[in-house]
Amino acid sequence: MNSSSDVLVIGGGAMGLATAIELACQGAQVTVLSRNFQEAALHAAAGMLAPQAEGLEPGPMLDLCLRSRDLYADWTNQLTELTELETGYWPCGIVAPTYADSPARLAQDAEWCDRTTIHQYQPDLGPEVVGGWWFPDDAQVNNQQLAQVLLQAAEHLGVTLREGVTVTALDTKEHRIQHLQTTAGPWQAKTYILATGAWSQELLPIPVIPRKGQLCAVQAQTKPLHKVLFGPGVYIVPRQNGRIVVGATSEDVGFAAYNTPAGMQSLLAAAIRLYPPLADHPLEDCWWGFRPATPDEWPILGHSPYENLILATGHYRNGILLAPITARLISTLVVTGQADPVLQDFSWQRFAPSSPSPARLALAPS
Ligand code: GLY
Repeated sequence: MNSSSDVLVIGGGAMGLATAIELACQGAQVTVLSRNFQEAALHAAAGMLAPQAEGLEPGPMLDLCLRSRDLYADWTNQLTELTELETGYWPCGIVAPTYADSPARLAQDAEWCDRTTIHQYQPDLGPEVVGGWWFPDDAQVNNQQLAQVLLQAAEHLGVTLREGVTVTALDTKEHRIQHLQTTAGPWQAKTYILATGAWSQELLPIPVIPRKGQLCAVQAQTKPLHKVLFGPGVYIVPRQNGRIVVGATSEDVGFAAYNTPAGMQSLLAAAIRLYPPLADHPLEDCWWGFRPATPDEWPILGHSPYENLILATGHYRNGILLAPITARLISTLVVTGQADPVLQDFSWQRFAPSSPSPARLALAPS
């Protein structure tokens, strides 16, 4: 039996690593078990930090996302201090052009731009763009760089990273996890954190399903864009080095691990309609990933039906954005046993309100 840690984190994506780092900073001995670091949704994203451009309704989810966005500058600075590596955090703001004539919604801390203004703000937008929002506080991070920084920071802090280990089952007794069954033998700890994203249902019957996103990137010689463009059905995210990431499809096709011609066609058509110069840059890369989607598209955070298992999963489109606040809330819960009141809104029990019993948790996933 492997049993060297206070905390075993299942899943080596943004949530698992960020939480492991926070716990290690607070003195906990932490092990992360990851079947494949490259598979995490972290790699599939474009790194937008876009609670406002995503158009989240006012309420607990928007509040959580705004809180996390506010943490980003300090969080990434601390990671850089630890590792001497840059995350590519860039508070560049997001322009959300539309093809509709008037603002479809009211947005706080945002500016509505008419046709003339938006084309001045962002030259070379498509001729069909008739207006749009400017969200100056939304931002981006380079998710590929962030993935490396999180791994390095975790190593630097003494977190044990076990890559290539798949957790196959939770062995339970009387509402507690006794140990984990894994492809590297059984593992035991005081506390377990489930951060397995789109794969969460393999271990627990919570309603988290994969929603595939296909993305691609072109490489510009100069830096033609200085803000993220978030248009209808597509976003275009310029990096500081001229690379431009285009995302993303949203497909309920299970774990279909490949790019498709139809997916790339729809993505590129939407991108070129929004920003025609994109058509002429060399296409550099295309890839896909699986967002962990819940029925209400909010994450599942905090206590589980098992006393010593904490949940940090189901972040859907906002995992990278929510990494710092998730790490803070979950590590505080683990270390102090005190649940921040905000966690109530993100409890697994919203999907099983009639019974907290593990036996009743097997609600049909949507
Ligand atoms: N965060 C945007 C996406 O998941 O496509």
